[in-house]
Amino acid sequence: MATFSSGVQKNDETERHAHVVGWGMAAPASVLTNDELSTFVDTNDDWIFARTGIRQRYIADEGESTATLAYKAAQQALEVADILPTDLDLIVVATSTPENIFPSTASLVQDWLNAHEAGAFDLSAACSGFVYALNMAADSIRAGSIQAALVIGAETMSRILDWQDRSTCILFGDGAGAVVLQASPAPGGVLSSVLRSDGAGSDLLAIPSVGSIDADESRAGANGAKLYKMYMAGSEVFRFATRVISESIEQTCAAAGIETNDIDLVIPHQANRRILQAAARKLGLDADKFMSNLERYGNTSAASIPIALCEAIEQQRIQDKDHIALVGFGGGLTWAAMLIRWGVPQPSAQQGSMLNRQRRHVQYRIARWRSRSRRWRRRVNRKVREIRD
Ligand code: COA
Repeated sequence: MATFSSGVQKNDETERHAHVVGWGMAAPASVLTNDELSTFVDTNDDWIFARTGIRQRYIADEGESTATLAYKAAQQALEVADILPTDLDLIVVATSTPENIFPSTASLVQDWLNAHEAGAFDLSAACSGFVYALNMAADSIRAGSIQAALVIGAETMSRILDWQDRSTCILFGDGAGAVVLQASPAPGGVLSSVLRSDGAGSDLLAIPSVGSIDADESRAGANGAKLYKMYMAGSEVFRFATRVISESIEQTCAAAGIETNDIDLVIPHQANRRILQAAARKLGLDADKFMSNLERYGNTSAASIPIALCEAIEQQRIQDKDHIALVGFGGGLTWAAMLIRWGVPQPSAQQGSMLNRQRRHVQYRIARWRSRSRRWRRRVNRKVREIRD
């Protein structure tokens, strides 16, 4: 079992903290309800709601993709943070449904934002991916190598589901959420994180891809997994999830030097209401302390935590100085928890300056123009070379 954890830094004058200063989310326009699902899969609303807590999910239309959803969420997050795309040093997209193997979804978002000072890459840690990515960005900020990072969780799970498999297709949906992390000397922000992996459970939850031993579309893998389709052993994943949520939250609290009772709100990966209730019981926390919006979104994998965070802020469930625990778990197997001491103004108090808003919109327009003109110039140069040779 591989382990990684980072604890709280000591207070001194040179200390840098990583604060969440912006947030945004995007959901596709189309909704698929349980009743609509049951017209083409052998299931029903009562069963799905009772076993999972899900009533509906959003499904990407033809014109929507992981990158377009990520881009929308990113624009909102920059708006709240009131910084320019050119202020970003790093863009990370946590996803299991990337636009391509490469180029990364993060590179596409970087181009569309005109964030030309930023490095960009995708991170693969399934439903734990957002917490992993946030930890990587926070560590880079605290180490002093970057000032500002955009961390996104974005998924189009609908495209890797087997819509005939009622044990998986009822659970997932599409969406994206993003946060801007920024360096600050003010204490708080990301306090501690715990990242874990147990690859011995790799056959419990999987989406085989091009490098797979079973990379032949006509065959199914030993555990029944088809290429580019999700496979899941539901009840085993359920047991794993209830165990690791409480364990990792306790570990991240210990690393930050606080009691679990001091947590004001848990923003868990939105997989199943019964999993969240069981985890709350194990931690001895009131179930109300667990943010839940899976009734409307289903499981959006790496996007679920930042989407739930945005909604918690919108519902004013997060106040200044609150201790917020994020916890993700999923394929790998992977799991991760993080403790944040919240320290930014509420959205109503945070008015982006008009000038910066206009500058951002100019940059988005420049980005589109710059990409097109670069491609066009490459094409012309190619033609010229062909004629010359
Ligand atoms: N609609 C109606 N019936 C269904 C069904 C569906 N969508 N899916 C399964 N069933 C049936 C099964 O065939 C079984 O019938 P049987 O008793 O006649 O054989 C019965 O319901 C119970 O199935 P089971 O798989 O034992 O249900 P469960 O209580 O374990 O619930 C999950 C299934 C998938 C909801 C549950 O295991 C789960 O949520 N697991 C965790 C999944 C998860 O969160 N994954 C992502 C982690 S990131």
